[in-house]
Amino acid sequence: MELITEIEAMREGSRRWHRQGETVALVPTMGAFHAGHLALMRRARELASRTVVSIFVNPLQFGPHEDLSRYPRRLEADLQAAQAMGVDVVFAPSEAVMYPAGEETARVEMGRIAQVLCGRFRPIHFNGVATVVAKLFHIVEPDWAVFGQKDGQQVAIVRKLVRDLNFPVAIEVVPTVREASGLAMSSRNEYLSADERLKAAGLYAALREAEERFRAGERERQALVSVVETALAARGIEPEYVELVDADELRPAPEQLVPGRYLLALAAWVGQARLIDNVVLEVAATA
Ligand code: PAJ
Repeated sequence: MELITEIEAMREGSRRWHRQGETVALVPTMGAFHAGHLALMRRARELASRTVVSIFVNPLQFGPHEDLSRYPRRLEADLQAAQAMGVDVVFAPSEAVMYPAGEETARVEMGRIAQVLCGRFRPIHFNGVATVVAKLFHIVEPDWAVFGQKDGQQVAIVRKLVRDLNFPVAIEVVPTVREASGLAMSSRNEYLSADERLKAAGLYAALREAEERFRAGERERQALVSVVETALAARGIEPEYVELVDADELRPAPEQLVPGRYLLALAAWVGQARLIDNVVLEVAATA
């Protein structure tokens, strides 16, 4: 496995592979790997003959009072884990390499979809994500890029980025990897105490209650949202939001669900960690 830190070397490496008839899958990450990241790498290896994992804690996607400075960084352990997964290249550029123009760098503006759900509380976050993902696509020129369903809004935004700006990249999405308790794996779980971890498992438990009601035939948006809110309240969790939106454009679902794919998504603070989770609800077209 090779560690690359410069843009030209990364692009040249990818172009050399393509000239040799190989295909490339990219897994963008901010490092501090857990089983969720490893599942993405496994999928990337199935998709393409070469796998690139990027590790870059992207300052553009952190708000001024967010956790950029304490976000976990452990390149050595990550390199070992990536090597064990059969990754070909880890691309880990410095901030100076990625943003030589600093604050004056050009940015991608995603519009409404970046301002809803988490965007209401993190207004610059998804434009920062879209900007760094666009840069990574230009640098690595992958055939595939692999993302996790855990960040459901991010998936919708990356798909829109690819569609609207015509990136020749196929997006692959991997289901959320969870701990035995149901808690979605996240680098931010490291901010939780043992007690808080137990409490945090309540996020998924609440979503599961609504999923059960949905399976039992409930099709009213507000009823499904209320199930989650009530289940969270019973566990002493006050969410930032619980919303049911269409999975592509992230617009509010109709009061009575019609056939389509929906995202039941939430964010909540548990201790020092802002956690997110979601489930996908699919209403089949009736014959
Ligand atoms: P990061 O939080 O490191 O996540 C990297 C990728 O791993 C994302 O696609 C994310 O959805 C996925 N992931 C995280 N936890 C997961 C889980 N429990 N199950 C499945 N997949 C999971 O997301 C980012 O970094 C950044 O925003 C990035 C896209 C790299 C842009 O900076």
